[in-house]
Amino acid sequence: MLKSIEWEGNYLVIIDQTKLPEKIEYVELHSVSDVYDAIVSMKLRGAPLIGVAAAYGVLLGVLEGRNPYMVIEQLKKSRPTAVNLFRALDEIQEVIDEGGDLVAIEEKAKEIENREIEASNRIGDTGLEIVPEKARILTICNTGIFATPGIGTALAVVYKAHEAGKLKQVYSLETRPVLQGARLTVYELMEAEIDVTLVVDSMAGILMDRGMIDLVIVGADRVARNGDFANKIGTLPLAILANHFKVPFFTALPTTTIDLSIKSGDEIPIEERDPEEVKKVMGHYITRKDAKALNYAFDVTPARYVAGYITEKGILTPPFEL
Ligand code: MRU
Repeated sequence: MLKSIEWEGNYLVIIDQTKLPEKIEYVELHSVSDVYDAIVSMKLRGAPLIGVAAAYGVLLGVLEGRNPYMVIEQLKKSRPTAVNLFRALDEIQEVIDEGGDLVAIEEKAKEIENREIEASNRIGDTGLEIVPEKARILTICNTGIFATPGIGTALAVVYKAHEAGKLKQVYSLETRPVLQGARLTVYELMEAEIDVTLVVDSMAGILMDRGMIDLVIVGADRVARNGDFANKIGTLPLAILANHFKVPFFTALPTTTIDLSIKSGDEIPIEERDPEEVKKVMGHYITRKDAKALNYAFDVTPARYVAGYITEKGILTPPFEL
């Protein structure tokens, strides 16, 4: 299995996800700026993976002789929506507050990484119970080995269902504008010899209308106490469609993605990215260069559309406890 992140003792190695599907290109990150740029430019992305990279990023900052608190502040500015980034940085800050040295910070970063790997496996096992035989699953974005240090969240369920012989077909939404579905999900599922079909984002409706989908499973970037959750742009219309066509709609996530400090989805900060991403496909303009475009990277799905939250601690239902 490909590994999307690897700590090499004094630097990080990641797969540059912007180069996929053309090639697997490993890049070394030697400084906080390298990590910050990799997160902002989405060389690495996906809520749990961003958290793990940021944790090692602080370690790189200490190795560079930088003030760890300033490093943490810088990394917190990289992307606003996935809570895993902030949680991982807060955990590292606790170690620093307690006077922890380089070894203690490294141990904490590794602990965060291992916790996410373990959570992925358990999420997959938990999810198996809601997957029917010969399941045809629809998913959005990328929630697998390129989004976590392990086998993923929604895709962890797909991997386990495949192993258990329960999977018939995965439909991957292409996920405009960054195309995580087309570029990453299709790539990794084909590598795992899982039957995956790429569809454009606007095809979800006809697939459900024709009875071609048994289950929708998506990831999550931040879940509020009442169960509202932010995920990749396009998740909200998917949830509404699934409810309309009575297709069970689940989200899969490590419990580290639940943000108990916020009551509802209204409080989740939504990242707005460069409109150029919308105006281009794979670097080529698909509209006038001077066209106006709007680029929200995430939307918020209300809890009422969600059949269950597949986590490493079982299938949960909100409200989540403080
Ligand atoms: O903008 P991205 O690619 O970082 O968005 C990723 C998602 O929306 C995923 O669904 C989410 O991070 C959960 S992945 C385990």
